[in-house]
Amino acid sequence: MSLDLHLPAHGRGRGLAPALRQLLRQPPGSWDLPELPQVGGPLLSQGAVADSQRLAARQLGAEHCWFGVNGASGLLQAALLALAPPGSRVLLPRNLHRSLLHGCVLGQLEPLLFDLPFEPATGLWLPPSAAHLQRVIAAAQASGPVAALAVVSPTYQGLAAELPALVAVAHSAGLPLLVDGAHGTGQGIAAGADLEVLSLQKSAGGLAQSAALLAQGPRLDIAALERALLWLQTSSPSALLLASCEAAIAALTSPAEGARHRRAVAVAARLRERCRRLGLPLVSSDDPLRLVLHTAALGINGLEADDWLLSRGVIGELPEPATLTFCLGMQPPQGVAWRLPRQLSRLRQALGGAPLGPQQPPPLPLVAQLDLPLAQAWRGPQRSLPLGEAAGAIAAEPLCPYPPGIPLLVPGERVDAARALWLQRQSRLWPGQIADTVRVVAG
Ligand SMILES: Cc1ncc(COP(=O)(O)O)c(C=O)c1O
Repeated sequence: MSLDLHLPAHGRGRGLAPALRQLLRQPPGSWDLPELPQVGGPLLSQGAVADSQRLAARQLGAEHCWFGVNGASGLLQAALLALAPPGSRVLLPRNLHRSLLHGCVLGQLEPLLFDLPFEPATGLWLPPSAAHLQRVIAAAQASGPVAALAVVSPTYQGLAAELPALVAVAHSAGLPLLVDGAHGTGQGIAAGADLEVLSLQKSAGGLAQSAALLAQGPRLDIAALERALLWLQTSSPSALLLASCEAAIAALTSPAEGARHRRAVAVAARLRERCRRLGLPLVSSDDPLRLVLHTAALGINGLEADDWLLSRGVIGELPEPATLTFCLGMQPPQGVAWRLPRQLSRLRQALGGAPLGPQQPPPLPLVAQLDLPLAQAWRGPQRSLPLGEAAGAIAAEPLCPYPPGIPLLVPGERVDAARALWLQRQSRLWPGQIADTVRVVAG
């Protein structure tokens, strides 16, 4: 029997939001409805969807909520388009999900990419502190006006920023803050952020592609948000996915589901304790339901660890060169607290060795401007170059290990010698995930 520790967080249905589970018991297809007057849709003010969006906003403490059926990806793009007029500059973190770059292309925005604190032992980018963000904003505003700022919190590994402090820094610099809370449950809006996007399959019991955009405060133009949503969402939103949004958010705040969450957290605590007793190194995470194994401390690349475990039926979520992240989900699999440590001990026996050295931080400036406009680089003529020959060239495509879709290189960035060397090392650390060639702007 496989041990599924990957997203969606409902874990093959075990942890689906109760109302959704009930709906799926109905005859197949009976729930696949159009925007009938009683049902409505995310951009209509009347009907069941509008009512349930209003309720969801109240449940999560926002002023507005829109359900999305194209994942957090679609809603992040809409949020960005609404925040920044064409031609304006937006400050985006280096650990951004690629959908924000797609939003920049669609909205003709100029991304300013800001560096993040980097932890060499784990190779993970950490959420920015308020002081770090203050330096970033000052550096960006020194070269011209900025329309908006985005941060990711929590990260894929469950590392959470001090959001109230980041909101205060953004607002005192006159910037609206978009929180990519794809892995969270509304902490951004609770901290006072202007916009937050949730991916309801990642830390709630919804189906893949169900997502929510939360909004509040005086810095937003609600008409612009609705217009951007109209541009980027289908005109036939799936009633099943809309029901999934409603049910997942309702479950986040229901007492019965609260009890289930506490049981899941208790399982996670037993699992951590067992790992600790066996000397299995874990990276601390702010999300109790994300378990991050520090494979580098065992002398193992996370991608190799993942391959080894996969062939033994343990399906993790996110392998990286120094870590492997497991998602325990809304209802962790039976016996995970002893089955996973047992397999991890076997992994250590089979592949373990001397700890790997520190991971090399990417050689990046605090705030980077692109050398060529994003869309021009991405949509113009391109050619392939071996990474070893890329120094001096301008990237034409993102270089993205998948998941999570975080680009190591962004179209329009010039690859300097230090970056080319770093990318070559990265391609060895991400075998099979990063090609040893890169697409660059031709000519
Ligand atoms: C931080 C972050 N934001 C956004 C997304 C996109 O979410 P979705 O898959 O719901 O479109 C992801 C997906 O992995 C993510 O990790």
